[in-house]
Amino acid sequence: MWDFPLFPEQATANAQKLDALMLFEVGILVFFTTLIFTLILVFCLRFRRGSKVDRSNAPTHSQALEVIWIAIPAILSAVMFIWSMQLFYELYDPPADAAEISVVGKQWMWYLQHPQGRSETNELHVPLGQAVKLNMTSQDVIHSFFIPAFRIKQDVLPGRYTSLWFQPTKVGKFDLFCAEYCGTNHSIMIGTVHVMEPADYEAWLAAKGVGPSQAEEGERLFVQHHCAGCHRGSQTVHAPRLEGVYGKPVPIQDGENIRFIQADDRYIRDSILEPRSEVVAGYEPLMPSYKDQISEQDLLKIIAYIKSLANQEPIQ
Ligand code: CUA
Repeated sequence: MWDFPLFPEQATANAQKLDALMLFEVGILVFFTTLIFTLILVFCLRFRRGSKVDRSNAPTHSQALEVIWIAIPAILSAVMFIWSMQLFYELYDPPADAAEISVVGKQWMWYLQHPQGRSETNELHVPLGQAVKLNMTSQDVIHSFFIPAFRIKQDVLPGRYTSLWFQPTKVGKFDLFCAEYCGTNHSIMIGTVHVMEPADYEAWLAAKGVGPSQAEEGERLFVQHHCAGCHRGSQTVHAPRLEGVYGKPVPIQDGENIRFIQADDRYIRDSILEPRSEVVAGYEPLMPSYKDQISEQDLLKIIAYIKSLANQEPIQ
């Protein structure tokens, strides 16, 4: 029709929902702004000095008017609150079958790792229609992962995992930005998301040959960093086995007490970098810290490996 894009393309189902909410809110804003300014203008003109209008018996009170101006805004704000809350939960609750892709931000590039093993920088290839969950962290400062066409943006923080998810509904190329000023070359920390037909995506994954998966790479690192020496059963060191641990509650010795925490990405990461902060009940705090010895990419691989053991039988 006319080429004056006010909005980026809508390339996910959530993008449409988010735009609908935003248009609704902007609509209300425009309506009330217009109403108020029109009334100000009308009254200014009508009751200007010297105009011949009836100023007798000016009302001092109107209950009906008060009820209306309390009830209507109250209802409208409740609608906005409930609508946006629902959407917020949807936006932060990835479907269970979402494919997980790891993201590491660093000055000044994005590193992305597919579970099947292929990795890329500043480009992200995803299949059409597949829900994708991004597990993100930063190697240095705060970045922000932003795909306008998907209407998603999330800070990427050093020392913490944050996540995003999306389900692309359109084949094509979409911009990827860093949306947090992160130093001199912040402005070149950009990239492209390629949404492909599933068959094309499979071909793309296989194009570089079927290498080791992210979890297999993680297993290699697990051995290389000597984690296996203790955590796969050892005569000399008593260390917890990691089979069946991921996603389950773990008993932690907390002074005299025992508390349970969920073995998630955060827990595994901290157990590697600060192993003495949360020691599994019944074990000695013997493990050395791996701080500054394992890169963020490699940590995500090791976590993927430990996650791949989640369905195995726990070994005591
Ligand atoms: Cu990274 Cu701005």
